[in-house]
Amino acid sequence: MQTHEITRRFTDHFVAAGHTKVSSASLILDDPNLLFVNAGMVQFKPYFLGEVPPPYARATSIQKCVRTGDIDEVGRTTRHNTFFQMAGNFSFGDYFKAGAIEHAWNLITSSQDAGGYGFEPDRIWVTVYRDDDEAIELWRKIAGLPLERIQRRGGKDNYWDMGVPGPGGPSSEIYYDRGPEHGREGGPEADEDRYLEIWNLVFMQDVRGELSPKDGHPPIGTLPHKNIDTGMGVERVAYLLQGVDNVYETDLVRPVITRAEEFSGRRYGVDATDDVRFRVIADHARSGVMIIGDGVTPSNEGRGYVLRRLLRRIVRSSRLLGVNEPVLRSFAEVVRDEMAPTYPELVSGFERISAVVEAEEEAFLATLSAGSRIFDTAVAETKSSGGLVLPGDRAFQLHDTYGFPIDLTLEMASEAGLEVDQDRFRALMNEQRSRAKADAATRKVGHGDGSIYRTVLDTHGVTEFLGYTDLSAEATIVGLLVDGVPVAAAREGEHVEVVLDRTPFYAEAGGQQADTGELRGASFTVRVDDVQSPVAGLRVHRGVVVAGEVSLDAAVVAEVDRSRRASVSRAHTATHLVHAGVRGALGTAAAQAGSLNAPGRLRFDFTSPTGAVQPAALAEIEDEVNTVLQQNREVEAYETTMDEAKRLGAMMLFGEKYGDRVRVVDMGDYSRELCGGTHVGRTGEIGMIKVLSEASIGSGVRRVEALVGLDAFRHLSKEHLLVSTLADQLKARPEELPERINGLIERLRTAERDLEKVRADAVLASAGALAAGAEDIDGVSLVAVAAPDGVNGNDLRALASDVRGRLGSQPGVVALFSGDGEKVSFVVATTAAARDRGLAAGALIPTFAPAVGGRGGGKADLAQGGGTDPAGIPDAVRALRSALRN
Ligand code: SER
Repeated sequence: MQTHEITRRFTDHFVAAGHTKVSSASLILDDPNLLFVNAGMVQFKPYFLGEVPPPYARATSIQKCVRTGDIDEVGRTTRHNTFFQMAGNFSFGDYFKAGAIEHAWNLITSSQDAGGYGFEPDRIWVTVYRDDDEAIELWRKIAGLPLERIQRRGGKDNYWDMGVPGPGGPSSEIYYDRGPEHGREGGPEADEDRYLEIWNLVFMQDVRGELSPKDGHPPIGTLPHKNIDTGMGVERVAYLLQGVDNVYETDLVRPVITRAEEFSGRRYGVDATDDVRFRVIADHARSGVMIIGDGVTPSNEGRGYVLRRLLRRIVRSSRLLGVNEPVLRSFAEVVRDEMAPTYPELVSGFERISAVVEAEEEAFLATLSAGSRIFDTAVAETKSSGGLVLPGDRAFQLHDTYGFPIDLTLEMASEAGLEVDQDRFRALMNEQRSRAKADAATRKVGHGDGSIYRTVLDTHGVTEFLGYTDLSAEATIVGLLVDGVPVAAAREGEHVEVVLDRTPFYAEAGGQQADTGELRGASFTVRVDDVQSPVAGLRVHRGVVVAGEVSLDAAVVAEVDRSRRASVSRAHTATHLVHAGVRGALGTAAAQAGSLNAPGRLRFDFTSPTGAVQPAALAEIEDEVNTVLQQNREVEAYETTMDEAKRLGAMMLFGEKYGDRVRVVDMGDYSRELCGGTHVGRTGEIGMIKVLSEASIGSGVRRVEALVGLDAFRHLSKEHLLVSTLADQLKARPEELPERINGLIERLRTAERDLEKVRADAVLASAGALAAGAEDIDGVSLVAVAAPDGVNGNDLRALASDVRGRLGSQPGVVALFSGDGEKVSFVVATTAAARDRGLAAGALIPTFAPAVGGRGGGKADLAQGGGTDPAGIPDAVRALRSALRN
């Protein structure tokens, strides 16, 4: 049974039983504790906790999940996937244990003809939590399972929570016995390879605290209702129903192995080591594509790091299979084709996905060979000194300079039979991190640590934000910090952080710079230079007390600098328009990767599938945006549901955390984007934009910079003045300038060439006179003189050859000197007849060079040298004469 059929049957089964079908959430959800969504229940967490009333009592979903905790097991076992799909059914205070067991049992044991999976009931085993007699009883009653196939297990196996404080509960797991050829008798307790877990039913009833009931700690409370959360491993069911050997050979994964076989010319199933590599490639290619699909790009931290590690492991595994060409795009295509029926966004987003993988592969290949050399040297050094541990400094260097994820170094070291000094590596990483953090912290929110802000938040609640409509408001100071420490008051001159109960100030977010302004009390003024939100919901005003003494609980008028805010808002609205323009021109693969909205200017970063944006295309985008400005469209901002926003086609940023209610900023059909920032009322207020540049900032990301409004105008005006000045100076019309300047450059070049020729001619013209002045020394014509002024270097050599030529067939020696300040250069040339007499140019140099404090050398026909004493030139000439006489 194909995977798509398995998930279809699951959904049908539960929809028929009154469940609402809910789409998979993105792999990236707003949960600071989770790198990736790793279970179907994650998106329903607020319903379990009773924070939000559930819109339905029963739900079912096929959730995409990433778990990378077992990444080293991938390919080595039959069942570890970093990406998998979890099919789940959920009850929010509706049915409980009996319902969950009945629904699951019916689906897995109903015949395939009847729409089920058709597992043989006799091969099903289940486990229950320790003393959950109720579950045992239900399994006997509902499924008729004999007691021998029901095992009790402890918290480690049969208590489930998210690994962090939150909902949890005892669980009951369903296993399938693959048969005696796959391992020992004795149920899941004895062998989890032979007995393969396919489904986990969690009876969600507890609230766990810092410590988990998994480890024997009691829950700290009970949930408002008893709930059900189940998760069936789709890939595992597929592997059983497809009769293949492991999860990597199922219909949606195996095609990547086939592609890797084509690349490498090696066959899967021949060599155990190669097979692990094939499976790693297949697994990671799928996770990588799905993760990028949800907006993550490779980086050295968090999700980006996990992604980078996955992609680099694919490249390296391919290398080890003997593939030297780029592979990632091709693997990504296979994944897209297999997964698209369920995740159509892989097709629409494919250009972006492939741009990301190609850039990462290129970057990695560039460092891989250099890094591998460093690595090999380090290994050789370690081994030759009899060591077994690769120094942490080397691992750090590989990470820092060559972009080797530490895990890659660990893996390569282990292949070379070495360990890595990870403590030292971590120490170095921490040093580097604290340096970076200290930097960032002083630049951002003063020195306060998060816990202090959280205390303020817990005590006073979120800061009410008034700044969409008001730029001035009365408020009360509810938090006051100096150097990160809460204080009751602060005096003139002190740097403070101020939290208000309500504020019109915008805190830096989503690329929009913070507002500045003033907080004025009865007897004090605080100048606000920055506003940050160090914990969600709290806005911290940072600045200096410029007059009086500010105190906690004081009343203030909070006043935003209006002109700066207006300028930033213009830049922000303009950024949306540039975004829309870029997408219009380059297609939807051009996804926003970052932005800056500052007074008078903006920056917009995006992934470009096609590299640089051509100047003509850029000019068109600029023109289009300016046209939209002139249309003076209304800019509307409104709140709506996420579903509605999607329906409207609002652009949203990958990797951003959005709640159920979102804010849409809308300029009619031209631009519609989710955004929490501030904007102008109509596009006409922006005036104009001027794009200044477009360039790469690495990893397939391009950056457009532009000026906005008056700043754009002033820039153009300045350039206009410049052009007018040039036009005046050149007596040309502005449009003639390029041609005129080209003409000037051309004439200048010609003049320089002519001048050079005249000079060279002049030099050679002196050759005749020099030759004519040759003196006769014992039958040898000698020309030994200081060359005319300004002749040196090549000219000196050319002149010497020319003079020698004029000496004809007689024995002749030419020695020309040029002196310049403290330097002398000289050239000696001899005619063939002189050489026949044993006069070699190179050999003559030592006879006179000391006189100019120099030396030199060369061949028999031509030699040269230099010295430091121009005053010695006459002596040198005399020395040469006497040398010839001798
Ligand atoms: N949350 C449980 C799990 O992840 C069941 O869905 O296994």
